Amino acid sequence: MDRRLTQALASAEAAGLDALALVPGPNLRYATGLSFHLSERPIVALLPVDAQPSIVLPEFEAGKADGFTTFTYTDEDGYAMAYSQACAALELADARVGVEALQMRLLEARVLERFAPDIELVPVDDLYAELRMVKGPSELAAMRRAARVAEDAFVTWVSQLRAGMTEREAAALLVAGLLGGGADGLSFSPIVASGPNGALPHATPGERKFAPGDWIVVDWGAQVDGYCSDLTRSVVMGEPHGRLAEIHPLVVAANAAGRAAAAPGEAAEDVDAAARAVIDEAGYGPQFFHRLGHGLGMEEHEPPYIVSGNRLRLQPGMTFTVEPGVYLPGVGGVRIEDDVVVTEAGVEPLTTLSRAPFVVPV
Ligand code: CO
Repeated sequence: MDRRLTQALASAEAAGLDALALVPGPNLRYATGLSFHLSERPIVALLPVDAQPSIVLPEFEAGKADGFTTFTYTDEDGYAMAYSQACAALELADARVGVEALQMRLLEARVLERFAPDIELVPVDDLYAELRMVKGPSELAAMRRAARVAEDAFVTWVSQLRAGMTEREAAALLVAGLLGGGADGLSFSPIVASGPNGALPHATPGERKFAPGDWIVVDWGAQVDGYCSDLTRSVVMGEPHGRLAEIHPLVVAANAAGRAAAAPGEAAEDVDAAARAVIDEAGYGPQFFHRLGHGLGMEEHEPPYIVSGNRLRLQPGMTFTVEPGVYLPGVGGVRIEDDVVVTEAGVEPLTTLSRAPFVVPV
């Protein structure tokens, strides 16, 4: 943890910043190991480039902040005085402070501006992305565990599915299986989208009952030791047939083309283009209307984004999803999502599940 904080502060200093300010979330956890809920009680870690790290937080949380200078407040007194003291002690009055545009709320920004009137808050999300995009061995091990827990729970779950079950009942079973199978949490609420609902990439499980012949899009993930997995597979009620049976191999081929195109030095957008070309050539280009993938790690969506326009060059250790999909309104959809890590030669899947449709006998 110390090494990560040192790196973050070195980058901040190089960017001409006096300090970093972090609110509860993945960047704070990454840089300091500290984990809090983002709530109505504002917590801000103030990390000067050349002095002891400090944190403003509720008194009852202070025990977690070992090694930090703490400025605490009680519910009764409110937080103003603690922030006033911290801003004065750290001489933030006219400091340039790096903040997370994607994480810090007006609540924290305004309280800093109130007690450090000429403070300049500079968005530095890229600084953290730079540090977090390339995963180390222990992070990759956690991601593999997260993939394994998700896959094992899925295989058991498929064997419990029946025609007549609702999407919501099935989703509840999957959640129970993930948590029971060793997930610390969910990467996100699973998507179980049956029949025509599969045409919506982010459908919410509802009251629709599985019927024979249904194709079901299942998108799920487990969080293990702070890291996420994220997969999508097709489940079919009975022997696969119909239009989606023709589309499924096409999406599998697009997934393979994306993985084959990814390697160190390749641009993220070229990986997207390689998978998209397969679907375009088959005439389904307009039905694949989202990016190919997103970075994955402590968050279910993080850089690098595998999308047209992103010229970022891949590096060994970067992790992301490959998830082409084809969606036919009124019919349904197919999306096949795997998680990969960039190696010296190409990419290696973190997910190991078969990409074939999972058939539920009816
Ligand atoms: Co995804």
